[in-house]
Amino acid sequence: MSTVPNTQQTQRKLYIESYGCAMNFADSEIIASIMNENGFINTSDELDADVIFLNTCAIRDNAENRIRERLKHLRNNKKSNNDLIIGVLGCMAERLKSKLLEEEKLVDVVAGPDSYRELPKLVAEVDQGGRAINVLLSREETYGDLNPVRLNSNGISAFVSIMRGCDNMCSFCVVPFTRGRERSRDPKSILNEVLELNQKGYKEITLLGQNVDSYLWFGGGPKKEFKSLTTEEQQNSVDFSALLDMVATAVPKMRIRYSTSHPRDITEKVIRTMAKHINICNYVHLPAQSGNTRVLEVMSRNYSREWYMEKISMIRNIIPDCGISSDIIAGFSTETEEEHQDTLSLIEWSQFDFSYMYKYSERPGTPAAKKLTDDIPEDVKSRRLQEIILVQNRMSQFKNSQYIGKTVKVLVEGNSKKSDQDWSGRNDQNVMVVFPKETYKPGDLVEVLVERSTTTTLIGKAIGLTSL
Ligand code: 5AD
Ligand code: SF4
Repeated sequence: MSTVPNTQQTQRKLYIESYGCAMNFADSEIIASIMNENGFINTSDELDADVIFLNTCAIRDNAENRIRERLKHLRNNKKSNNDLIIGVLGCMAERLKSKLLEEEKLVDVVAGPDSYRELPKLVAEVDQGGRAINVLLSREETYGDLNPVRLNSNGISAFVSIMRGCDNMCSFCVVPFTRGRERSRDPKSILNEVLELNQKGYKEITLLGQNVDSYLWFGGGPKKEFKSLTTEEQQNSVDFSALLDMVATAVPKMRIRYSTSHPRDITEKVIRTMAKHINICNYVHLPAQSGNTRVLEVMSRNYSREWYMEKISMIRNIIPDCGISSDIIAGFSTETEEEHQDTLSLIEWSQFDFSYMYKYSERPGTPAAKKLTDDIPEDVKSRRLQEIILVQNRMSQFKNSQYIGKTVKVLVEGNSKKSDQDWSGRNDQNVMVVFPKETYKPGDLVEVLVERSTTTTLIGKAIGLTSL
């Protein structure tokens, strides 16, 4: 399949655009690696590209609409370059499969999240005339042996994918259908990637999975419960807390983050591992989705409001200053006003530093779409979302104001959005911090005295360089 790059000819140029979650951005780095191995070079100029890949997201309707708009726009590029190949990759490709080729006449390649190794072949098929598709999902593929090419990287923080797919089947979610069965990546290959990033001077890594707490390596293949492993497999298995421990020990000078945790599966062992290692950041992203037990049940989340609260208490008991963030869905099918109020009170009780908040968007083929009616009117969803945002913003403002007068450790990532006179970076708890540049540089770990705060940012001045 692999074509040796021909240096005599000009190499074909690849432009990748990523949408959606961090996992998709990490996947684009795998895609670049596969394409580079096969003679393509990357370009950041879409007008200069021979191949354009959109790595897409299907989680909400508006994500797909954005991508459709983008495809319309790309029609112009195709007009000026007849040979331009356009590929739709990732979750939207997997969800719509060949329908995408019927609907979007300009798309030449459709590839799902488990078929990226086939991309050079799919492009070659298009070169022969015609269009190419591969949306087969795999039970084993983790791309563990590949060396991701860091795209748009600041050279400081990087994502490391530790597993793929999701077996949870939350009723609203399309991910189990677009990303397939859950499988964990070999810890050896994870460790190699982390060590290499360390060697290249990276300072921070984020271990990525849809549900990191269910990470379990026992030799490969689809997820199994620990209980169902043989004694030998159990002895050689690596769970998430063991993986965290291994990674944190291997690169003691690097900051380690991870995402996403699941309230049902998060364990005290993981939180104690975080507490044990100074280089694991004190931050947990623990999506609640709703604050009402009946709604959580209809969402098939497998936990109650009380269970969720217990997990928050457990985290705060072990790591009192832990940053905690959440995902919240407004106006899920059948949600009453009282149940919505429970979500507002859970945000208040949990004191989330930050939340990603969404209106429910019914996704075709999901259990919710099959079994429930999307019965909350759009204006009610919007109003509930606004109420959720209001409470969360008040909470974020309160949490951030508590840093005033204190010092925080900030890993400098780059210019602040508002001024190129200021650096920005995140503190241990994942809050954005901005301060005047002085003589500091990206990659420095700086102690900053917080003087002011907003809903999203801490503003202060540097005190000096620091260590973890
Ligand atoms: N509608 C709205 N939000 C959704 N999410 C997942 N599926 C949907 C949907 N159908 C949200 C959840 C999840 C986050 C990644 O996206 O909150 O945690
Ligand atoms: Fe979707 Fe639930 Fe899996 Fe997250 S855990 S990807 S919300 S099914």
